[in-house]
This record gives sequence, C-alpha cells and structure tokens, in this order.
Amino acid sequence: MGSDFTFREATISDYHDVMAIGEVYNGVDYLPSRYEDMMRSHNHTGYVSVVNGEIVAFVAACIVDNGETLVTRAGRVNDKYRGQGVYGSLLRFARKQIAAVGGVKYEAFTTLSKNFEENKDKIKAVYTEILIKNAMYYRSRFKIKDFKALPNDLNTMPTLLQKADLENIFSSDATCKHLFKSNRIVCGWVPFRLLSSNIDYILKPDTLLLASCRHDRSNNDVIYTCLTAGMHTPCKLGLVYSIDIFGGDVSEVRHHIQVHAKNLQSVADDRECAVTVMWEDNLLPADVESILNGVDMAEPTRAQAGKLYLLEKQFQ
Ligand SMILES: CC(C)(COP(=O)(O)OP(=O)(O)OC[C@H]1O[C@@H](n2cnc3c(N)ncnc32)[C@H](O)[C@@H]1OP(=O)(O)O)[C@@H](O)C(=O)NCCC(=O)NCCS
Repeated sequence: MGSDFTFREATISDYHDVMAIGEVYNGVDYLPSRYEDMMRSHNHTGYVSVVNGEIVAFVAACIVDNGETLVTRAGRVNDKYRGQGVYGSLLRFARKQIAAVGGVKYEAFTTLSKNFEENKDKIKAVYTEILIKNAMYYRSRFKIKDFKALPNDLNTMPTLLQKADLENIFSSDATCKHLFKSNRIVCGWVPFRLLSSNIDYILKPDTLLLASCRHDRSNNDVIYTCLTAGMHTPCKLGLVYSIDIFGGDVSEVRHHIQVHAKNLQSVADDRECAVTVMWEDNLLPADVESILNGVDMAEPTRAQAGKLYLLEKQFQ
C-alpha cells in the first residue's frame, strides 16, 4: 500500500462517496438504506480511507456488549485497491481511535463464505471461529397471491416477543443454553452477547422476534425451544428479509416461517424480495428449503447455500 492513503472518520455527507466505493452483495447490500441511521447512532462510527481525494474504503465500528465488543461491519474496499492491505490499515486506524476511548476487550465480525474463503489465511491467523451457521439465500419475487396459510392453530403459533420477554430469556440459563450454543445471538449480522444492555439494539422496529415452546417434551426450565428473528431492510433489489433461527425443529420452524412470510407480505408491497435464512445444525438444508417452498416464500431453484462465520479476537 502506498503512503498517499489517509484515514479519517466518516460523516453523513460522505454518503455518495461511500456508496461509490462500488457495488457489493449483488443488490442486497444494507448500507445504502442504513448508512445515515448508523452514522447518527451513538454506538456506530464510520471510518474511511482516502486516496487522491477519493474515498476507496469504508468500515463501520459498532460497539455492543456494554462497551466491551467492537463489531466491524459493512466493510468494503474499491476493487481496484483490494488485496493491498487497505482494509487492514483502515481497521488499524479505527482501533487506535477506539482504544483511546477505552473499555473495549473484544473485536468481532461476521462474514459469509465467499469473503471468508478469499481471506481465510489472513483472518484465521488472527481471529478465532466462535460460530458457524448455515446460510441460504434466495433472490426471488415473493408471490403474495400464492401465499399458503397454514391452519391457524393457536397452540403452535409462536409468540411475538417484547423487551421484557427477551430480558427473561437472557436471565434463564437453561433457555440460553438451549437456544444459543455459542453464548451469542447474531441478529441482522451483528453478534451480541446475551446481555440486557443489547436488547434495544436487537429489538428494532424493523425486526420481528418470535418464540415458541414445545410442550410435548420435558423442557427442564427452558422457556422457549425455538426463537426466530426476521428483519427487513430496503436494498437496491427491493427488500431483503433475513431470518435468524435459534433452536427449533422442523415443525416449530415451519410455524415461525409462516408468520415471517405474512410479515414480509405486509411490508413488501410490490417490491422484489430476497430472503436469507441462517440456522445451526438443528435442521437440514433440505428441511429449510421445503419449509420455505411450502409457504411460497422462495424459489428453490434459485437457492444459494453458504455459511455465516462469526470471528472474534482480543481487542488490541
Ligand atoms: C473484504 C475486503 C474489505 C478486504 O479488503 P482488502 O483491502 O482486500 O483486505 P486486506 O488486504 O487489507 O486484508 C484483510 C485484512 O483485514 C482483516 N479483516 C478483518 N475483517 C475482515 C473481513 N470481514 N474480511 C476480510 N478481512 C478482514 C484481515 O485479517 C486482514 O488483516 P491484516 O491486514 O492484519 O492481515 C474486500 O475484499 C471487499 O471489499 N470485499 C467485498 C465486500 C465484503 O465482502 N466485505 C466483507 C465485510 S464482512
């Protein structure tokens, strides 16, 4: 990397220059619709790398877990400058600013298979894998008219969670162990430790949090056996709806997906939709596909399978 690169904090007015870094994630990038909110929020700071007056790289630093974890997100480098250490240098600049404030102990990020495979050696040299989730993405038009409602059985319908419910879940060791094997909840790509101070970041107006409990088996103090979070975000394609699944078996997850499909139906209007689903090893990919096909939520032929990696290291 040449010496003519400079680094600074990003501002709201950098919006167009940050977007001009280039298209990432094939039309489902959340940054264009979230940039302004992120830059205004008290727990995000953006950083950019500039060369010859042009912004060529961006990363958002998000602080969670009572100020103890830095989550780097929405990172990107103009493709002319990739592979030359620009992102690493931008992160080092951001870390210095953040270290000056103090309190941060961990640094984490999530990434999908493509980026992980491309940068695996560099990433694995420094970060530890905390969690690997299955990921399936669909890019399809949601067929509202074909939506197949399941019989509305009140015993199996999931409950809509509010802040107090999530407080209860986080204070129940048995429930946390059952739902969150790695002691983290990853929602909308951001990993959170199971702390009540994170609840306001998890429960946003665009997030639908559902939970259900199977009463036909002994639950040993487990309040809920399945939890799902559905988050919708406008994007270039139209709307991306991400569903994070925690625990659950095929039948429970089917009922949750049914409610998320209805939610998507109500927010999608006539927009093109992409659906992403993340889950652990409690379900087979074929189960997830068949559930989504069952509610006409996605076209199986256009499914792409992958993995979501959560990586973490000590902050220094
Ligand atoms: C991923 C991307 C930002 C890497 O940029 P780059 O300038 O080519 O990367 P570098 O040459 O600086 O190498 C990556 C460095 O960042 C670190 N890193 C931290 N988070 C990373 C991440 N999400 N992805 C890749 N590397 C990451 C690596 O460990 C490495 O550190 P090092 O400098 O100490 O070795 C770039 O390829 C890109 O814009 N890809 C498209 C968008 C994307 O996939 N973003 C990932 C967001 S999770």
